[in-house]
Amino acid sequence: MAILGIVGSLLPSIANLALISIPINEAKIAFNRMFEFTSIEKEKEEGVSIDEIKSVSLTNLSFRFAGRSELFSNVNIKIEKGKLTAIVGESGSGKSTIGQILQRFYNFEKGTITVNNKYQLSKIELQSYRKLIGVVPQGIIIFNGNVIDNILLGATETTENIISFLTEYGFEAYFNQLPQGLATIVGEEGINLSWGQKQIIALARVLYKKPQFLILDEATSAMDRNTENFSMALLDKIKPNCAIFFISHRLNTLKKIADTIYVLENGTLSTTGNHEELMETTNFYSEYWQD
Ligand SMILES: Nc1ncnc2c1ncn2[C@@H]1O[C@H](COP(=O)(O)OP(=O)(O)O)[C@@H](O)[C@H]1O
Ligand SMILES: [Mg+2]
Repeated sequence: MAILGIVGSLLPSIANLALISIPINEAKIAFNRMFEFTSIEKEKEEGVSIDEIKSVSLTNLSFRFAGRSELFSNVNIKIEKGKLTAIVGESGSGKSTIGQILQRFYNFEKGTITVNNKYQLSKIELQSYRKLIGVVPQGIIIFNGNVIDNILLGATETTENIISFLTEYGFEAYFNQLPQGLATIVGEEGINLSWGQKQIIALARVLYKKPQFLILDEATSAMDRNTENFSMALLDKIKPNCAIFFISHRLNTLKKIADTIYVLENGTLSTTGNHEELMETTNFYSEYWQD
């Protein structure tokens, strides 16, 4: 009887002891993640500082993720100011990875990337390069603030200037459709917005930066036809002062606007040309138009 009594009073404590292992495991995971994070090699900061981008050339570029087989090889692409250069291909073919390599997120094994026909991308001072480029990534990040906060991202600007930028580029009409116009609070992760609306904010955000090299990764994929036409016309307008790299698996937009289309197929570039040239052979691009 006495033993039962003791066991009875000990049981809750033993149960508590078992529960302690959960926070300990969580702490262990958090510690490991932190360790992983702090052991990431720091980005190189030295190098040649540049103040303009006229061209970016990829020559015989091959890439694999650590422990994976080669994603693509012998990729040759020339991106130039004044032109819209597009890359198309099935999902998973490596288009976004090329966009990320151009942002210097990954090192590559073979080949070169040359800026202005002069400097190896890896030898350029990262800050000076990043100042000149603008990116709309596939996964847009929207913060819980209003539309203007999401365009400025903390940059100080007068209301007058931002409104004159939005009017000049034609964005105002889009943002005026939102419940409180530019003052609309977009909600945590832009919950109050459609994906197409997030994309138009992302486009305004990147163009506000007046980039010289623009990387757009499926940046118009969720826009309705009119909004997409508006965006493409806008790209055409800024093109004389910008090198545009347009990643897409939606092909109908490219017919009129792309100067050169690269087709990434079976781990390499299979064909290159403008719409008419690509239509002359059978490839991922021309097959789309035949369906
Ligand atoms: N960080 C990563 N580590 C390993 N594999 C990755 C990583 N990022 C993407 N991949 C893989 O690389 C391939 C190409 O991805 P991605 O460049 O996103 O293709 P696309 O943009 O053409 O759809 C996919 O199979 C994807 O799963
Ligand atoms: Mg992608």
